[in-house]
Amino acid sequence: MSGVVDGRVVIVTGAGRGIGRAHALAFAAEGAKVVVNDIGAGLDGSATGESPAEQVVAEIVAAGGEAVVNGDDVADWAGAENLIRTAIDTYGRLDVLVNNAGFLRDRMLVGMSEQEWDAVVRVHLKGHFATLRHAAAYWRAEAKAGNPVDARIVNTSSGAGLQGSIGQGNYAAAKAGIAELTIQAAAELKNYGVTVNAIAPAARTRMTVGAGGAMAEAMAAPEEGFDAMAPENISPLVVWLGSVDSKDVSGRVFEVEGGKITVAEGWRHGPAQDKGARWEPKEIGPVVADLLAKAEDPVPVYGA
Ligand SMILES: NC(=O)c1ccc[n+]([C@@H]2O[C@H](COP(=O)([O-])OP(=O)(O)OC[C@H]3O[C@@H](n4cnc5c(N)ncnc54)[C@H](O)[C@@H]3O)[C@@H](O)[C@H]2O)c1
Repeated sequence: MSGVVDGRVVIVTGAGRGIGRAHALAFAAEGAKVVVNDIGAGLDGSATGESPAEQVVAEIVAAGGEAVVNGDDVADWAGAENLIRTAIDTYGRLDVLVNNAGFLRDRMLVGMSEQEWDAVVRVHLKGHFATLRHAAAYWRAEAKAGNPVDARIVNTSSGAGLQGSIGQGNYAAAKAGIAELTIQAAAELKNYGVTVNAIAPAARTRMTVGAGGAMAEAMAAPEEGFDAMAPENISPLVVWLGSVDSKDVSGRVFEVEGGKITVAEGWRHGPAQDKGARWEPKEIGPVVADLLAKAEDPVPVYGA
């Protein structure tokens, strides 16, 4: 039986654990050749000496699939380039880039350090751009050489990035940036045969249950029935987005949790009033009150 991504060459970043691991296994099960990237970082990005990507590759190979390890840091410019090169050198091509790697350093904004800000924005936002940039250059060269390109990028945003999340200002800003980067890249890469979409997942991983508490309880696996918080629930959408069947879908962000897929409707022009001339500051109050009365209320910030 043929899989939905048979023979496609796929990179999944941060695929040693959690949601990325589920993606890598799901792509392999549907016939893809997978580059399993993971730096083996701790939950806060610190070095652990672990190599979870090797275990995932071993699992894929044991199940009869094809996979190779890559241990580069996705936010390192040369590392990201080497990651793209690993796919091309090993399998002769690249069809799908799934940007998923990242970590957290949660803190209220008022107490957040410069390092906490920089590390989280770097791994998520630059870690998406760096791989995207090198993959895009490869696909543009292929398209210009007359080789057919039917390529996909699937990014990973977050509910924190779409709605906000108390205590995660660095992460939320980076994930909001990733949602916009997705729209931007979809528009810029269209002519080279590349679609770009993003997901905002929710699943039980060390990232969501690591701290214990109410979140860990809400995410616990049920004793029987559908395990809605299993990370494996996130991957079918991502595998489909990586397939040739998703050709007409680009520049979209999907929230995905359990068996539920939601299209996120993002920034758009709302109610407006045009005076046709410059406003006086004292005129603005009632105008804004009128516009806000007509506008939809924002979705509440998580934890507010
Ligand atoms: N779990 C959720 O409910 C949830 C919700 C929203 C968004 N997300 C996002 O989904 C993605 C996966 O998260 P997860 O919950 O599976 O977390 P996880 O911690 O289980 O897995 C993340 C993996 O990324 C790797 N990694 C970290 N920095 C890296 C780097 N610089 N280069 C390469 N690999 C690196 C880690 O070693 C780890 O194996 C993340 O982008 C996360 O922000 C998760």
